[in-house]
Amino acid sequence: MGIQYDEQKRMFKLDTENTTYIIGISEEGYVGHAYYGKRLGQFGGRYLMRMEEAPYTPSVNRREKNSFMDFFPMEYPTGGIGDYRESCLNVRNSAGSVASELFYESHVIEEGKPELLGLPASFGDADEVQTLRVVCTDPILDLRVTLLYSVFEKEDVITRSALVENKGEEKLYLEKVYSANLDMENREFEMVSLCGSWARERHIQRAGLHYGKQSVSSAKGESSHQEHPFIALVTPETTQSTGEVYAMHFVYSGNFIAQAERTHFDFVRMVMGINAEEFCWRLLPGECFQSPEAVMTYSDGGLGKMSRSLHDFYREHLIRSPYKYKKRPVLINNWEATYFDFDTQKLLDIAREAKKNGIEMLVMDDGWFGKRDWDDSSLGDWTVNEKKLTSGLPDLVNQVRELGLEFGIWFEPEMISRDSELYREHPDWAIQVAGREPGQSRAQYVLDISRKEVRDYACECVAKILRSAPISYVKWDMNRQLSDIGSACLPADAQGELFHRYVLGLYEMQERLVTEFPDLLLENCSGGGARFDPGMLYYSPQIWCSDDTDAIERLRIQEGTALIYPLSTMGAHVSDCPNHIVERNTPFETRGNVALAGTFGYELDITKISEEERAQIAGQVELYHKYYELIQTGDYYRIASWSDRYPWDCWEVAAKDASHALVTFVQVLAQPNMHNKNIRLCGLDAGAGYRLEGTEEVYTGEELMACGFLIRDLKGDFRSKLYHFIRE
Ligand code: GLA
Repeated sequence: MGIQYDEQKRMFKLDTENTTYIIGISEEGYVGHAYYGKRLGQFGGRYLMRMEEAPYTPSVNRREKNSFMDFFPMEYPTGGIGDYRESCLNVRNSAGSVASELFYESHVIEEGKPELLGLPASFGDADEVQTLRVVCTDPILDLRVTLLYSVFEKEDVITRSALVENKGEEKLYLEKVYSANLDMENREFEMVSLCGSWARERHIQRAGLHYGKQSVSSAKGESSHQEHPFIALVTPETTQSTGEVYAMHFVYSGNFIAQAERTHFDFVRMVMGINAEEFCWRLLPGECFQSPEAVMTYSDGGLGKMSRSLHDFYREHLIRSPYKYKKRPVLINNWEATYFDFDTQKLLDIAREAKKNGIEMLVMDDGWFGKRDWDDSSLGDWTVNEKKLTSGLPDLVNQVRELGLEFGIWFEPEMISRDSELYREHPDWAIQVAGREPGQSRAQYVLDISRKEVRDYACECVAKILRSAPISYVKWDMNRQLSDIGSACLPADAQGELFHRYVLGLYEMQERLVTEFPDLLLENCSGGGARFDPGMLYYSPQIWCSDDTDAIERLRIQEGTALIYPLSTMGAHVSDCPNHIVERNTPFETRGNVALAGTFGYELDITKISEEERAQIAGQVELYHKYYELIQTGDYYRIASWSDRYPWDCWEVAAKDASHALVTFVQVLAQPNMHNKNIRLCGLDAGAGYRLEGTEEVYTGEELMACGFLIRDLKGDFRSKLYHFIRE
């Protein structure tokens, strides 16, 4: 039983296999937080509510209500009533004041998990997840707020969201609606987050919590290259395998905030939700607002355990695509091979050569439509450019299929080029503030997909192309951030809804696509990895990780991404050298070994690379087929990180039944006189023997995990090797 209620104590206990979360109701009816951490056998006592330490509880001493408010650990704090920490809900009434106060009204415990209207959300059967709804009201505002907690026992995950309903007669304005809050004592926490830039996404950063607020956020309309909707608070001793971790991750693809605040009492408040910057939602009588879902997990086994819980959770309970556990075809994408300069013949040449080397799908990237020979025109004009595809798209697709490859195609459906037929016809379809020239980025504007007719147009363009030929894969790109936030269709007091309405529009469009084309393999992308988030995983089982395909840069990017996402979701390709972004030369073998930790494919002109490199492709493809299932379903362990303190990088994927494990070792910089390249494996069967494939060497699991395995055979920078250990 995941969720229990103790009537006498007025406390809820939410249990997963290894964690417990306790909520209590105070005398006044505030919904307070009592405990989150290691699993407890018993219900915690009421002392966990910390009421004794707040002698001035309102029911005892109204005179000191504000002091109480600023101390009491709340489940869902509201603004305007004396809790000076970050609030989760700010409501402005029609008289213009911001204040709300929530009191427990009732609760329901149910099997399974409800869908969140219009939003991506995790799911599970009745035997996998239980949901607690705590219904609270603000009697003055006539506002009802339902706090949802869904408990996924096996994965040690609790998801949270809030449903806000206007039950009154007055118009209300939601100026802030976060999804989750966690109040705890500070245990010298450090905050882990993922930060970066274009071509340098999701690098791991970690720093001690100081007094005040530390946050990561996006106000760019997407989850962004720069910051990521994830934070974890960790105790100072936390490593991959030791220490405590409290993590929150957001199932959302737009503006977010994730924040930790250390208070004057040395408490910590951790929040996550839609960024309140430029957000204001008008809530008319009878209407409701559903916040997106936050995913929480606690680990007392370090960051590695957190990663594995999240990996399992996303694989089992968020990704819906039929490709979730299906082998994805090895693709070759023509972007870095040709950029905009291609035609039917060129694509067929690539396809022909690709087929010879075992590649299974050709993806035609940007430049096949309108008059798009560069990045400055034609977005929105989704008609085939027959100067390039001389015999038309269906014929090209058929020819590629006759060669024995599947066919994939690139779109950027949310965009409109200034130089396009679409813009000339519908300039008001671009997001813009009336009377102001909107800013361009990559010479393009963003379509106002909060509008139904705009969504209908863009969806129909994509669908028409997909109906015209047997296309197996779509890369859905989004190459600029939002600015000049204004919609021609929203009333003045609802303009603050546009950012969120945009994201809802995007979700609706992707839902339509996967509904009409259920077998389609969809890969999301945003100028590389600016929209790599759990929201998009609900629609596409894989997301392009970064435009930087350099194997060494990818180590950090993929390490940060794999901290919270399964390897099967990370779009990773082998590209040409010198690398187009950093101009680094790396061995072809290493490029392959690094890409194997993702979805695996190629992004180069296969007709032009050296014979020596081309000769390695078939072998790499074979490795992909051999290790695919392990990489997709196994447990991921980060063994060493060159961004941390090693001159090398190393990760392992172990089968869940410990029958075999694959270790990837990349020597970033060769060092002289280094005898200690000893790596300790994880997740093996201690009592069993493991043979290193390709050798006669046999080690016990215990030895490999406790004493380690010696890397002896690598010389030179950027060299790498795979080691496959098989249980005897
Ligand atoms: C983005 C993508 C690239 C490529 C280009 C095309 O940058 O990340 O992979 O598709 O757009 O314009």
